[in-house]
This record gives sequence, structure tokens and C-alpha cells, in this order.
Amino acid sequence: MVRMELIAVTLFGLESLVAKEIRDLGYETIKVEDGRVTFEGDETAICEANLWLRTAERVLIKVGEFEATSFDMLFEKTKALPWSDWLPENAAFPVKGYSLKSDLFSVPDCQGIIKKAIVEKMKQRYNKDWFDEKGPCYQVQFSLLKNKAVLMIDTSGEGLHKRGYRKKANAAPLRETLAAGLVNLSVWKPGKAFIDPFCGSGTIAIEAALIGANIAPGLLRNFAAQRWEHIPKGLWKDIRKEAYEKINYDHEFKVLGCDIDKDALALARHNAQLAQVEEYVSFEQKDAANIHSNEKYGCIICNPPYGERLGEKSAAESIYRKMGKTFSHIDTWSYYILTSHEEFENHFGKRASKKRKLYNGMIKCNLYQYFGPKPKQQK
Ligand SMILES: C[S@@+](CC[C@H](N)C(=O)[O-])C[C@H]1O[C@@H](n2cnc3c(N)ncnc32)[C@H](O)[C@@H]1O
Repeated sequence: MVRMELIAVTLFGLESLVAKEIRDLGYETIKVEDGRVTFEGDETAICEANLWLRTAERVLIKVGEFEATSFDMLFEKTKALPWSDWLPENAAFPVKGYSLKSDLFSVPDCQGIIKKAIVEKMKQRYNKDWFDEKGPCYQVQFSLLKNKAVLMIDTSGEGLHKRGYRKKANAAPLRETLAAGLVNLSVWKPGKAFIDPFCGSGTIAIEAALIGANIAPGLLRNFAAQRWEHIPKGLWKDIRKEAYEKINYDHEFKVLGCDIDKDALALARHNAQLAQVEEYVSFEQKDAANIHSNEKYGCIICNPPYGERLGEKSAAESIYRKMGKTFSHIDTWSYYILTSHEEFENHFGKRASKKRKLYNGMIKCNLYQYFGPKPKQQK
């Protein structure tokens, strides 16, 4: 097994959650920066991280890191990296990346230089001039930040938020990784009541069900590195088998998703079936103003309409006012509300216990967290 540095790419605001997930898998984190967590691992770590990380966007192998202020430096230092340790002769190796606050600001030029440097390295290693790139994909990614280049290979393929259960979505679905993050940030545990009153296509409820039953989020999909020869096929098989064995069939729990829109609920039910969690979730058509529960303690986790589009702001504000009234009847519950509306607390009528900045795509949001009292210990 080869020890290497791996990078889990994260949404802004979820770095600490991803770092915790990595440590829970048994790997040591080296660095936590904006949008990425670096950790140490081997081939097993590549398989486990892809299969199990709920809040990371993708897992990359760090091939090298260096200072680059000219195209010559970028070319020479890229060429010096051990590409042929990873790329087989038939590898497809497209290059993509970004540049921020760096002298080399033209991304297409950087892409071209990096590609050329890797080809030169491959020519030396394989003693040939032309590569048809018809084999497995080794997507090369680069970042240039303040003249520091990091070169990586993507092991995930499609982003890890694509679990495989959401073939269709409603108008404003939440990313599965962010939905899992909201659940992980809450005090919800299987057995405790759970409601998402604005469930839309069901993402938060489905992610809660996956977490509650300890179902690995990547079980229904494949990853780019499954086609690589460095990682024995048997390893992927063993790690999937272990993941099936870790599913907790003993937990009896039910999470509830509600929405006013019956088409959204039909989609949510369909998605829950695809995710194979239909026994843990139920969906009801209901106005959020009519939410109630006989359970003394529980969690509400939701992303209501934000009112971002012209003409929708006052409708969103009216929903927040209704939520404020309804939720006050279950004030022993904890609520977690994600919205970009800056004045949310004023309309809801209560200051949050804590706020956390999160990004829903490009939209800057706050997660307004209201903590209920701790359940009394049973004597
Ligand atoms: C931002 S979307 C939620 C998306 C969802 N998290 C997902 O991943 O698909 C907001 C949802 O609130 C629903 N909604 C709007 N007003 C409502 C109300 N008064 N009561 C319940 N649901 C409402 C909409 O139908 C929509 O599905």
C-alpha cells in the first residue's frame, strides 16, 4: 500500500464536518483550509473516503505542490512530478483547474502547459510520442492560489453529492452533501422525532435516513478510481461488502418530510425508493403553518423558500412569520433553518441560539440554529 496525501474537496463552511468524518474513518487530517481537507491515506483510504464521506464533494490525490510565477516554472515543476506512478500508457488525462490571486492568471494557458508537461513525462516513461488516451480517466486538477500550484488527480469522477438516488429534482433542490451537513450539525439521532416541513424532493429527510441507518452514501454509485489498475478490484469489493455489513437494521426510526406541493412529494417518495430508505421516511402534504407533533423532543431541519427572485420576497417573509408562530408551539424542539434571507430572525420573531455561514451553490446563506432544552434523563 502506498502512503499519500489525499484532499477532500468541500463546500465552503463544511470543512470541519468533513475533517471529522475523515477522522471517524480512522485517517489523520493534515490540514483544514477553505474548501479542502488534506489527509494521509493509502489505496484503502481512497475507496473508503469515496464510499463513506457524506459531506465531501470529491476525493483527490495530491501529486505535488510548488511555487510557480512563470510558465517555465509551471512546466518544469509539473514535469518533475511522478505522473507515471499513476498514469498508465492508455490513461485519459484531461486537465482542469482555477487560478486566484496569482501571476499566472490565464486558466487555459495553465491547462495547456500542464498537459504538455505531463505528456513530456509520459513520453520519457513509455518511450513513445503519441497517446490515444482511450483508457480509464485520470482527471488532472490544478489550483493556483497566491502563486502556489497544487496538482491533483480526481479519484471520484462525478461529484460525491451525486449519490445515485436523485434522478430528477424539483426547482431548488439542496445538494445532498449540504443536506447531510445540516443533519450532522444538528442534535438529531435516530429515534428522535424529525421533520422537514419544506422537504421538496426529500433530500434532507433521505440524507437523515441514510445517516440513521448507517448506510454508506456511495453504495449506489461508481467512482473514477474503480477503473484504475493501482487499486485492486477486490479492495473495492471488500469495502462495499463491509459497508453492507455496517448497515444498522436494528434502529427503528422514522423521519417525516412535508411540503405544500404534491408533485414535489411524489418526487420525494420516488427518490426515497431509489435511495432504498422508504421504510425510514414518510411524506405528507401539509402547509408548514400546520406542523405539529405529539413528541416532546425532536428536530426540524429545513430550507424554506428564500424569496431570492423578484416578487417572491414578501411571500417568503410571510412563510417565516407563520413558521415563527407554529414552531413556538413546539419550543422544546431544536430547529435548524437554512436561508439566504438576511432578515430571517426578524420575521421569524426569535433570535437564533447560533448562526453558521454556509453556501448553497453560489448563494450565501445562514443556518439559523435554535437549540431546545436537553431531554430529561429517564430515572
Ligand atoms: C427551497 S425548496 C426545498 C428544497 C428541498 N430541500 C430539496 O432538496 O428538494 C422549498 C420548498 O418549500 C415548499 N413550500 C413553499 N411554501 C410552503 C408552505 N407554506 N408549506 C410547506 N411547504 C412549502 C415548496 O413547495 C418547495 O418544495
